Order: sequence, then C-alpha cells, then structure tokens
Amino acid sequence: MGNVGQTDLHDLNEPIINHSEGQLFLSEAFKIIVEEVLCKGTDVNEKVCQWKEPEELAALLDLELRETGEPQHQLLQRIKDVAKYSIKTSHPRFFNQQFGGVDYHSLAGRFLSETLNTNLFTYEVAPVFILMESEVLRGLRLLVGWTHGDGLFCPGGSTSNMYAMNLARYQLFPEVKSQGLWGLPRLAIFTSPESHYSVKKGAAFLGIGTDNVILVKVDDGGRMIPEDLDEKIKQAKSQGAVPFLVSCTSGTTVQGAFDPLDHIADVCEKHKLWMHVDAAWGGSVLFSKQHRHLMKGVDRANSVAWNPHKMLVAGLQCSVLLLRDTTNLLKQCHSANATYLFQQDKFYDVNLDVGDKSVQCSRKVDCLKLWLMWKAVGSSGLAERVDKAFVNVRYLTEKMKKREGFQILREPEFVNLCFWYIPPMNCLDHTPVIKERMMKQGSMMVGYQPLGNKVNFFRVVVFSPLLSTKDLDFFLNEIERLGNDM
Ligand SMILES: Cc1ncc(COP(=O)(O)O)c(C=O)c1O
Repeated sequence: MGNVGQTDLHDLNEPIINHSEGQLFLSEAFKIIVEEVLCKGTDVNEKVCQWKEPEELAALLDLELRETGEPQHQLLQRIKDVAKYSIKTSHPRFFNQQFGGVDYHSLAGRFLSETLNTNLFTYEVAPVFILMESEVLRGLRLLVGWTHGDGLFCPGGSTSNMYAMNLARYQLFPEVKSQGLWGLPRLAIFTSPESHYSVKKGAAFLGIGTDNVILVKVDDGGRMIPEDLDEKIKQAKSQGAVPFLVSCTSGTTVQGAFDPLDHIADVCEKHKLWMHVDAAWGGSVLFSKQHRHLMKGVDRANSVAWNPHKMLVAGLQCSVLLLRDTTNLLKQCHSANATYLFQQDKFYDVNLDVGDKSVQCSRKVDCLKLWLMWKAVGSSGLAERVDKAFVNVRYLTEKMKKREGFQILREPEFVNLCFWYIPPMNCLDHTPVIKERMMKQGSMMVGYQPLGNKVNFFRVVVFSPLLSTKDLDFFLNEIERLGNDM
C-alpha cells in the first residue's frame, strides 16, 4: 500500500460514512423538506419567493466551500436556508412557467429513484426501470395512436427535439454518422416563428445552422399555415437546399397554439419529409377525450416530444421522445457499441440494454415518477387534471374580460392566457414594474414578454392541480393591487 500511512486516514477497516448518523440526518432533513417546502411552500398565507439581492443572498447562504466539514445542526440550518430562499414552485400562486405544482406520488417516485441512484443503460443495473420505461413509453405511444414504435426518456424537451432532428437527418443521410457533415448538401428545417427556441439551438448544435431553419407563416392564432409551408419547401428546393424536417408545435410556449397537424402531415407526405411534433407543452391533451382533437393527425408524425413534467406535474425532469419507427433507427443512429457495457454475449436478452440508443452514457431514471403517478390516479385522473386546467383558464378569461384594465391578447386555445393590464394612469411599459413588485413582495409569480411589435404582456399558465378559483381571483386582484397606482 506504499505510503498510505503518510496521509491521515481513519481506520481502514471501517467505512468512511457512518450509516446511523447519516440516516438520522436524512430523517431530520426530510422533516425540514416536508415542513418548509411542502407545507409552507404550498400555503397561500406564505410567500412564493423571498426576494434578496444577489450579494445579500450569497452572504446569507455562506456559499464558500472550506477545508473542514460542519456539524449536523449547522447543515440542517443550511437545508432550511436553501428551502427558505428558493422559489416555491409548488405554491398555487406560482404562475411563472410551464412547470410547477406538486404531485405527491410522483414526488415519492422522485425520492425513490434518487435514492436507488441507478443508471438507465443496462438491464444489469436497472432491471426494474428498463421494463418500466418501456411500458411507460408504450402507454404514451398508444395515446399518440401508435401500437408499435420506439422512444426514450430524454433530459428535457429541447433534447428530445434535437434527437428528432438527428434521427431525421440520419434517416436521409445515414453516412452522416461516420463521415460527419462533409459532403452533405445544405439541409433545411421548417418551423413556425412561434416554435420553441430549441429548434434553432438544435440546428446550431447539429451543424445544420440557424439560417437553415426556415420560418413558416402563422395565422392570427399563432398556428402554422400549411399552404405557406408547402410554398417555403418549394422555394428552398429551388434554391438548392434539401428540406428534411418539419417541426410542428402542439402548444406553443407563449400563446399555446396548436399547429394543424393533419394538414401539415399532407404537406410532409407530399414532399417526403420527417414530421416532428414538439408537444413538450401541449402533449398532455392526449389524455383528455374532450381536448385531444387539438392534436388530430399526430399519429401521422414520425416523432413526438412530450414533457410530462409540464402539464402533468410529474416533476423535473420528465420528457420523452416517441417514435413511430420500428426499424431500430434510434440505436442505429446513436450506438457506439461500447464493449464494457453492451457485451453481446450476456446471459440475458441484450435488447434490454437500451442505453446505446441514447447519446448519453449515464441516464437518470425519469420514468418512475410518471409511472407511480399514473398508477395512482389512472389515465382518467390525468385526463381530469387536463380538463380542469382548461376549465380554470376559461374561468380566468371570462373574469378578465369583465374586468376593467385587463385586455387579453386573444382567446386562449390552451392553458396559456396572455394579457395586458392597463393601469389607471396608463403608465408606459408598466408590466416589468408590476413583476418587480410582485417578486419583491413575494405574493405571486407570473412571466411577461413582448411579442413582435406588441409591448410587454403577462403570460399566465394555469395548469397546477392545486389551483382553486380563489387563487385565480387572487391573481386578478393582485395584478390590480400591484399596478393600480401607475
Ligand atoms: C413548446 C416547447 N418545446 C420545448 C420546450 C423545451 O423543453 P425543456 O425545457 O424541457 O428543454 C419548451 C419549454 O418551455 C416548450 O414550451
């Protein structure tokens, strides 16, 4: 053992971590998490955020890492501080983004997968989750309308979209895997200006280039116009580009628009293009008998990205890429055949080792949280949540229409409601000021943005199963309270 003695090690016969001490710490930490994050963090009498300027926050948190460790009581205090100064995204008055809320079964799944700490690449280390992932993907595919196909849990919708791009390109030019971009023609992607920015990021990341993301016109509701898509594809071809992918959106990030998938599918079939549906936000409507018509034609797509961590409140991250393909394209496109993981002479069916389909090596278990929640409430329970979100947004819209000072951008098609609040004195661009006030007072959180030549407006996303009409009434009153002196 050479010079072990020179370092100040503890007794080598003992483990370095003390289990009973560790487990006691964990149960104390758990109490704090339940109290601070789940009880206070969802209580409408408590704040959504405790705003601090960055310098003050850094000092309060005492972030510096030091040579020696700290006693348990101090660490428990640190856990309290982290909880205290973090944004309470489970709070019913967190309307800021398309994630938030809490589902306790999913949360139990999240704790369990964190604790089991395994890697979703081989059956050897993740037997339960390999089978579970496959079943959850099958269930989601069935909702799309595919009895067969493939898929993968990915670290977010942006990544799912990039996977779709890579697969579409590989299907057309399989040599890209070994030869790279050398020798490829100029490729073109078509999407709407309302699509998520990850389409452009993906094009940059994969060497396609953002200039080759061609924007198709949208109608007044923010939905892609299929006739313009057809036109833009012809135009690109005439300019020597090779169109290969149309990325449609089901539930656009800002306005919640649903592109007309059936008509777009006709155009894709005509030009033999891969049709991808970015349903990261809107995909969950597929659970609802009442609202799934918004995605009519989705079964004609080649791939679908869907984030159950958004509307279904499965918890970050939970995102899938679903494929109609049955030729093992995912694996052909991404495999590297590492022999230390994916030995072909294993004692079990090596097709269960799905890890080589992914561009990641280590891959988190993201299926358990959705599986447990789905088991708990069933497809009907998830459908009910989706339906309730639509009812809530309708409630808020109707209230807003009757209230002075509020002006909606357009009738919501989904659960995003974009609106202006015009204060009595009509102060110019007051929206960021109202946002600043709400954060500093900690009463609620809602996002805002400009759009084209339209000045800043608020975008409220109404989907958390924790929401009641009281919270929606509060929302309106609070916007008014925060802005009525401007
Ligand atoms: C339509 C759409 N696609 C993709 C994404 C990106 O998903 P993620 O944040 O999981 O990368 C979002 C996120 O807001 C989205 O709204």
